[in-house]
This record gives sequence, C-alpha cells and structure tokens, in this order.
Amino acid sequence: MCGIVGYIGNREAYPIIINGLKRLEYRGYDSAGFVLNYPENFELVKTKGKVSELEEKAKASKLTANVGMGHTRWATHGEPNDCNSHPHMSNNGELVLVHNGIIENYESIKIKLKELGFTFQSDTDTEVLVNLVQYFQDKENANLCDAVRYALNEVVGAFAIAVMNNRNTDEIVVARLGSPLAIGIGEDEYFIASDASPFVEFTKDAIYLEDGEMACIRRGEKIDVRTIISNETVAPSVQELQFDLEQIEKGGYDHFMLKEIYEQPKSIHDTMRGRLLTDEGIIRMAGIWDHQERFNSAKRIIIVACGTSWHAGLVGEYLIEELARIPVEVEYASEFRYRNPIIKKNDIVIAISQSGETADTLAALKLAKEQGAFIYGICNVVGSSIARITDAGSYTHAGPEIGVASTKAFTAQLTILSLIALKLGKHNGNLSKARYHELCLELENIPKLVEETLKTNDAVVEIAKKFKDAENFLYLGRGYNFPTALEGALKLKEISYIHAEGYPAAEMKHGPIALIDENMPVVVIATKKGHYDKVVSNIQEIKSRKGKIIAIVTRGDSQVRELADYCIEIPDTAEEFTPIVASIPLQLLSYHIAVMRGANVDQPRNLAKSVTVE
Ligand code: M6R
Repeated sequence: MCGIVGYIGNREAYPIIINGLKRLEYRGYDSAGFVLNYPENFELVKTKGKVSELEEKAKASKLTANVGMGHTRWATHGEPNDCNSHPHMSNNGELVLVHNGIIENYESIKIKLKELGFTFQSDTDTEVLVNLVQYFQDKENANLCDAVRYALNEVVGAFAIAVMNNRNTDEIVVARLGSPLAIGIGEDEYFIASDASPFVEFTKDAIYLEDGEMACIRRGEKIDVRTIISNETVAPSVQELQFDLEQIEKGGYDHFMLKEIYEQPKSIHDTMRGRLLTDEGIIRMAGIWDHQERFNSAKRIIIVACGTSWHAGLVGEYLIEELARIPVEVEYASEFRYRNPIIKKNDIVIAISQSGETADTLAALKLAKEQGAFIYGICNVVGSSIARITDAGSYTHAGPEIGVASTKAFTAQLTILSLIALKLGKHNGNLSKARYHELCLELENIPKLVEETLKTNDAVVEIAKKFKDAENFLYLGRGYNFPTALEGALKLKEISYIHAEGYPAAEMKHGPIALIDENMPVVVIATKKGHYDKVVSNIQEIKSRKGKIIAIVTRGDSQVRELADYCIEIPDTAEEFTPIVASIPLQLLSYHIAVMRGANVDQPRNLAKSVTVE
C-alpha cells in the first residue's frame, strides 16, 4: 500500500515521477505528492486526491530538476488531506522523505522529539521518521546514509522509504523492511519504485532490495547496498525484468479490469505452458518435482492467503483432497498468524498471493517456516517477498494485474492448484492413469472454453442493466463452486459497493433465506455435474420466495432455465475446473454493474492492490 517512485540521472525527473505515480496508483490513491531537488531548495507539491489532481496542481511549479521522488498514498495514520500527504519535510527544511508502511512506535518517538523541541504539522508516522533522521544528522554530524541508518535502527514496523537532502542533489537514500522496493539501473541514471512498472521502458535491469537492506544511490557512482542493522556491505543481485510496457497499459480497453478479464484465455494458457505436457502424460513443475518426497510424506497441507487468493485456496482444498487425498486446511493468513496454530514438521504450508507482498500472508509463512514447515509459494509477481522466502514455489504467469479487483490472477491460481492436485494425485497413486489423462485433456482445453465464455458478455450486460440498482445480492454455489460464489460476491461488493454475500447453497435455509423477497437477486452456480439436483432444489426454494434467480448453467441445460429469471450458459468441462469458467460471467457482471453505477472500477474506494500493512 502506497507507491514510491524516484529518479536521479540526466533526464527531467518530473515526467518520470508523475507517470510512475500513475502506474503505482493501484497501490493507493488517497493523496499524492512529489518533490524535486534543486541546489539549495526543494519544489514540493502535494494534494489530497488522485495523481491527476496532483498533475493539475503541479502546473504552477518549476519542473526541471533531474532528481526527485513522489508518492501515492493509501492512508494509515491520519485522514487523507493535503497535510498528511507525502513527501514529508523535516523541521529544518533540509530533508524530505516518502514512506510506504507503518512505523508502529512512532508515538513514543514523537513524544521524545517534541521534548527536544521538534514540532509536527501532520498526524503521520512518516513526519516523525523524517525528523528522527534530522535528529541523528544533527546529533552525530552524520551524512545522510548514516543518519537514515541510525533512525531506522530505532523504529519498529514496516517500511520502504526514500530520503533526500537539499544540501546534496546527487543522492537519494532508500531502505526497506517488509514493504517492497526496486531500483532500476540505467546508464548514468537510477530509478526507484515500489515495483518495476514505472521504469520498465527505461531499463530492464533491476535490483530488488531485501528486507533489512538500504542503498545509497549517488549520481555517477555504483549503488552502495548495506544492511540496516550492522552496516555491512551487500553485493546486490541484478535481475532482468520479465515484462514490457505493453503489458501494463490498457491496450484500448476502458479499464484494466476489463482488459484483464479478456486476457484470461492467454494468462491461463501461459500458466500451463511448459508444465502441462498432456501428450507425454507429464506435469512438469520443478517446485514440486524437486521436493516430491516432502509432498509424498506430507500428512497435511495448510493453505494461507487473503481475499481472492483465499477463495482460490478453498478451490485448492477441494482439488487436492479429491484428486490426491491429502488433507488440506485453508486459513485466513491474518487469523492463522495470531492464533498459535499447530504446525508440524511434515506439514506443507502453501501461500497464495498475487502480489507476493500481502503482509498477513507473509507473516503467516514466516511463522510456519520458524516452526519447521516446508513453505511453498504461489505468486504472480516475480521476485516478490513471498516468492523469495519460500522453500519452493510456482509462479502463475498471469502477467501484471493492475485492476484492484483480482481476475486473471485468480484463474491463474486455480490453474496452478489444478496442476498441483493432478501431479500429486498421479504420484501418490490416488488418481488412476485414465482419470489423470482425462483431466489433463480437460484442463488443456480450458483456455478455449474461457474464450467461448467471454462471449456471454452481451447477455451479462443485459442482466447488469436490470440489477444495477439492487441494494443486496446473494451468491450461491455448492462443492467446487461454493468458493466461486464467495468470489463472485467479493467482486461485486469491492467494485460496485453493493452489499453481496456468498454462501454454500444448502446453508441458505439456515439463515440467509430470510433475506429473500422479490427484490433480492440471487446468483446461483448450477453446473450439470456439481450436485445439480440439490442445487435445483435450492433454486426452487428461492423461487417460492419470489427471489430473482440469475443462474450460471452448463450449456444445453433446460431444467434450471425453466425456473430461473436469467440464465448464462457456460461450456461443459470437468466439475473440478468449472470454477475457472464460471468465474468469467461473475467477473463481467460485477464489472458492468460497477461501470453503470459510475464507480471507479480500477481504483475502488478505500482499497489498494497490494496490502502491505496488517
Ligand atoms: O496479492 P494478494 O493475492 O495476496 O492479495 C490478497 C487480497 O488483498 C486480494 O485478493 C483482494 O481481496 C482483491 N482486491 C480481491 O479482488
């Protein structure tokens, strides 16, 4: 949460910063700001609201410096207003700092600084940190790097920061602990950002700082990376970026979310490519293969995740238990980490995370690792924190997902989980050769089926028109499609702000049925092979209470069509893979309803793409 961008080199810094902030806006959009460093003075502009508002405000400023940094904020401490926006300046006006994360002990530091005569304008923890750096600079007569290091050794919490001093336009100091920070390396220039998207068109070479590292970035010099705790020099590892500019632009679509929904045939295919080798009867996944013994002897798999990734985990539970007969538990990472869970040495803990940076998921994994479990990551962002701390893992290869509502990352996670379940089931002998082969063929065909399902868009638009003003929605499903119902409901509420709940269809009669009347739209996933008759009975129950039924059915269905008010047909496939296909019309429904209600689809209120605070 919060995006940081910075530049030092020979180009004008402002366009790089403002465009970078636009790309990082998915990380938070409560306020935005930037600072340019001219000899002896800063040009600092900041405002509540979006980067476009900052751009407007900046028109009155001198924008010619070739060193500077910017910030887009997801508010933690202090409401979103101009004053709480970053960058924050020190009392002596010499230092500026941008920050992503939370300084947990800022109150006690603030009290001590106040006793020393420091004053504060904002409610933020960041303003405390910049003044702590000033304090050490003055007290120790320290250079910027050392002053930042001293200050960071005093703080508890999570941070990615960038700091500049107006006595030196040739230097930016950055550091990270728990929040991501990448440094792009060009010829005689450096870029700083929370992820590599702001600089991918300038350089493909990047360093991802590790937790507990800081870097002094000086014009014309090699980067100096050190540990924050002990000031030891670290040799940075330079990685080549695996994506390009085209992948992070809208490509003619109105919103990133719509583009990402339509990318799914390709993203699912990319996730399977080189792994699902149906002709050879092989699923090639190095992360599993290299640790086959671990998986064979695992008594239990625990999946930890948040939000949409947690829903993918629930589908994973059904898949792995059914195909490989290994017990699986799915846990909200935020609960798991604080409830003293029982973790045994032969447990495998799988973290699922699009961003690979979700603070709760990361903490849950660290806990599992400390207690001796083997930890496995399913991440989309290459080089992310979760990907780096796990013993092994599989990337989802969905490509950058910019829309805050997760779509293509979800179906890519389901694809990976399907591959893992098939591979484990084959190896431990729980899956017959014939069934394994049949399911591999079905899975291979999924990108084509998703392509076909996207053609339901026009029908979905008509349904969206009918229900765009609804105040509540219910989503029901059973078996594999119970998590699909949860995911459909989450998609609708997060981008359209309509209250929606997902439920296992049979649970409806234990409470939610009381909500049903002629104003309640109920989306039911009623695929042919998934407890169909039972779901039909549930649909009857809704109908007799006059609820409006929107059914997702298998192509050619007639029974549900008789009962439902609206039907969306999806192509037939193995029940195990229906969540991938059935999610498509649900994503489209939430998208169109949100657009019709005038909501900001890609940047829904109060949310951020990557939740790096707990
Ligand atoms: O990056 P992660 O997959 O770890 O993110 C987890 C959730 O924050 C995320 O899925 C969130 O629920 C999405 N906004 C849902 O669309």
